[in-house]
Amino acid sequence: MNENAMKTEVIPAAAADMALFIESVKAWTADFILREGRAPQCYVLTFGCQQNEADSEKLMGMALNMGYERASEAADADLILVNTCAIREHAEKRSLSIIGQFKHLKEQNPHLIIGVCGCMVAQEHRRTQLQKSYPYVSFVLCTSVLYRLPQYLAEVLARGKRVFKGEEELTVAEGLPVQRESSYRAYVSIMYGCNNFCSYCIVPYVRGRERSREPADVIAEVKELVEAGYRDITLLGQNVNSYGRGRADGYDFADLLRDLDRIPGDYMLHFMTSHPKDATKKLVDVMAAGEHIAHSFHLPLQSGSDAILHKMNRHYDRARYLEILDYMREKMPDIAVTSDIIVGFPGESEADFADTLAMLQRAQFDMIFSFIYSPRKGTPAAEMPDQVPREVQNARFDRLLALQNEIAAEKNKPLVGTVQCVLCDGVSKKDDSIYNGRTPQNKIVFFKEPGDEGTWLSVRIDRAEAFALYGTVVK
Ligand code: 5AD
Ligand code: SF4
Repeated sequence: MNENAMKTEVIPAAAADMALFIESVKAWTADFILREGRAPQCYVLTFGCQQNEADSEKLMGMALNMGYERASEAADADLILVNTCAIREHAEKRSLSIIGQFKHLKEQNPHLIIGVCGCMVAQEHRRTQLQKSYPYVSFVLCTSVLYRLPQYLAEVLARGKRVFKGEEELTVAEGLPVQRESSYRAYVSIMYGCNNFCSYCIVPYVRGRERSREPADVIAEVKELVEAGYRDITLLGQNVNSYGRGRADGYDFADLLRDLDRIPGDYMLHFMTSHPKDATKKLVDVMAAGEHIAHSFHLPLQSGSDAILHKMNRHYDRARYLEILDYMREKMPDIAVTSDIIVGFPGESEADFADTLAMLQRAQFDMIFSFIYSPRKGTPAAEMPDQVPREVQNARFDRLLALQNEIAAEKNKPLVGTVQCVLCDGVSKKDDSIYNGRTPQNKIVFFKEPGDEGTWLSVRIDRAEAFALYGTVVK
């Protein structure tokens, strides 16, 4: 597709062509209530990244708006929406396996509608597979037309049709209803899609071309969240640093962050993900001067070898990466920097991998997310020669983790004895005798004293490990 051929169109959620479908589904749910004596139940299952979690909150918001109630488990549902991920093969396998397990639910409840959304269904071969081999799936919904849920649902409910369209639109749908999972942590998408075409990545093919929301819409949403008591707001985009690219007024991500920071209130702003080629000193300056901007930065490195970075089509080298990293640390000595690393990219030699280990030593990340390279159909890297054997990938992955564990443990040590401001997440999910929360640097902290979800606590750190801090509430 010609990147300039389509212009981003902002459409209101209640766009005229959706209103009729919304009414049609509402009439169906009203009829269901009369017939069954209960409201139909909707269950949304989410795989993958924060962008998907944010999309799922909109899917649930739209379903509730049309008369559904939220089901506490899939077995109770009359509508199941599976929001899939395609970033690695494993993610697709998990999504497909769960969809397969829902077959027996359809046998128990013939009225059950199953829809598959998210990145996986933007690929034609997956849509064909679902249509042919999963007859109990009624429709697919691609991420760029998320707002069309009422339309597809209406077609299934009213006309008994199965819908398997592979649509891509360059739209930004404003004002969709959102059913947020938390009352104090929120995601706000500021842009959609990606134009970078890193050679390993499926995202540009499944989420379409980059388009940004209007600053006024983002600012209004964040203001509303702050006023509603949200304490931690994460701005989302595949590459937030290119927010607003192409705008005539030159307004960029740093400008947006500065304007958001001016909203009065008791809250912190996070953002992800950044691209090292587009992260600017202006952005770092805005962060350092900000009142509400968390000193945490997720800056995916992907590889420490310049040759591999070039093959990945990343458009930066080690020197450029370190320049922005060093500037951040200079302006904000307390900043926590996290990164993504891919091991076993095609052609990665032992020397290339040694460069990645050396970069880990030099960069001293607080945490990394590490991935074994997974070939994605349709991406250039999947066709490259010298695919690295699985055993070599596994061995490198283990070495990477071992080194990063040492670095993270050392990095956390100086925090012992300090008092950290922690946003409480209540009882730990793994152990109900302890509580947990996160610092603005996104470090997880465990403590014994009960705390209320969504409140700030002062916690003195008594012990530090690579992945967590342990402390005592002092206030
Ligand atoms: N194989 C392995 N990891 C990948 N990522 C993206 N595509 C692939 C792939 N094909 C990783 C990158 C990215 C993160 C979200 O997922 O590190 O930053
Ligand atoms: Fe994928 Fe690269 Fe876009 Fe990130 S920036 S979503 S890795 S193509």
